[in-house]
Amino acid sequence: MSSLPILKDLHIRITSKCNMNCPHCYAADWFGDNVQLDFVTISKLVEEAIDLGCRKVTFTGGEPLVSDFLIDSIIFCFSKGLRVEVESNGMLIDKIIKNLGNFISKVEFAISYDGEKMRGDKQAAIVRKNIEKLVDIGCDVKIQTVITNINDTEIDHIFGFSERLNIRNRVFLAHSPNGNGKNISLRKINDCLKTVSTLRDRYKHVIIELPDIFSGGGQKKCGWGVHRCEIMPNGDVTSCAPITFNNRTFIAGNIKERPLKEIWSSSHFQRIRELHQANFKGLCAKCIFWKTCLGACRSISFSTGGDLLSPHPFCIELFDGIKDKSIDMSSFSEDIQNVIYQWISNIESPHFNANNERYEDIVKAQHKLL
Ligand SMILES: C[S@@+](CC[C@H](N)C(=O)[O-])C[C@H]1O[C@@H](n2cnc3c(N)ncnc32)[C@H](O)[C@@H]1O
Ligand code: SF4
Ligand code: SF4
Repeated sequence: MSSLPILKDLHIRITSKCNMNCPHCYAADWFGDNVQLDFVTISKLVEEAIDLGCRKVTFTGGEPLVSDFLIDSIIFCFSKGLRVEVESNGMLIDKIIKNLGNFISKVEFAISYDGEKMRGDKQAAIVRKNIEKLVDIGCDVKIQTVITNINDTEIDHIFGFSERLNIRNRVFLAHSPNGNGKNISLRKINDCLKTVSTLRDRYKHVIIELPDIFSGGGQKKCGWGVHRCEIMPNGDVTSCAPITFNNRTFIAGNIKERPLKEIWSSSHFQRIRELHQANFKGLCAKCIFWKTCLGACRSISFSTGGDLLSPHPFCIELFDGIKDKSIDMSSFSEDIQNVIYQWISNIESPHFNANNERYEDIVKAQHKLL
């Protein structure tokens, strides 16, 4: 067994509360619980994480800007030399600008902007203004967008905005059907493929989050369980919060009861790190993209396939759609058709040799942690 991986990236879900209730939100089941992490707990946690190699803390939630402990926690992280990201709905930006003073320009922001139909036009107007304010201050700002059946007609509006500001937009073309998101049907693969091609043709600042058969690969994956973990608002430690808001199976321990190092080296995380391609289910176990894709977003696959190692639902839909001819291959360029045929022929081959590297080693190489 190799040495304990560096916990480079710590995500703190500082509060379960939120000032909104978005129709797709995976965290909604916790809003009524009203749990949050206080400054003493956070500062102890951050010191423990630094001992494990932490370099960056992301504060999220719920909505982190409704927490009374956010400002002191950010300043504490800066005093320890860490990078700080705040993932926010962008409604309370004036509050953080006022309270952080000169520290504000050092904060990296991931602000959600999903157009006008998902969260409402009044909210959208406020968020656009607040994003512009942060850009003017000189903060590193990226937009995060989730495309669902509600806002898929607003592609040009949403991505035109990030393009005009010259800032990155990280887009999820599928939502996790959890929390409020259970009530929205998943987008169909054909619609999703059209969005991918529109985004590629028109927008250069877009980072597309999809399995590698669609995105073409080349992006680092989230590294669940190897270089990052998430702390829930009640102190539970998990490899994936979007799943944990809805299912308690993935909790490795609680920071109020055990040292972080003990939890980070627990069997929960060890089991993840020891995974190999052959442990993955269905298409992933025989996929030529596995080494770079690593199964893509586990939250979506778990919620639709019922297993942490299930394939992404879009891959299943693509495979089935090509086999039963409901997806028209001639709509793809010749290059893409060749890639898809190669993908399918490997999946169907009785001689496919699964990659025998450990999940942990691949993530470490992707994130240059070796
Ligand atoms: C849960 S929110 C927490 C931070 C903050 N309240 C916000 O809205 O940015 C973090 C990110 O998750 C996204 N999100 C929420 N529900 C989702 C779902 N069901 N599937 C995919 N992303 C989701 C949000 O759009 C947001 O970009
Ligand atoms: S996505 Fe963010 S802003 Fe919207 S309800 Fe969820 S936590 Fe709140
Ligand atoms: S089959 Fe699995 S590994 Fe391959 S692209 Fe899809 S999610 Fe990724």
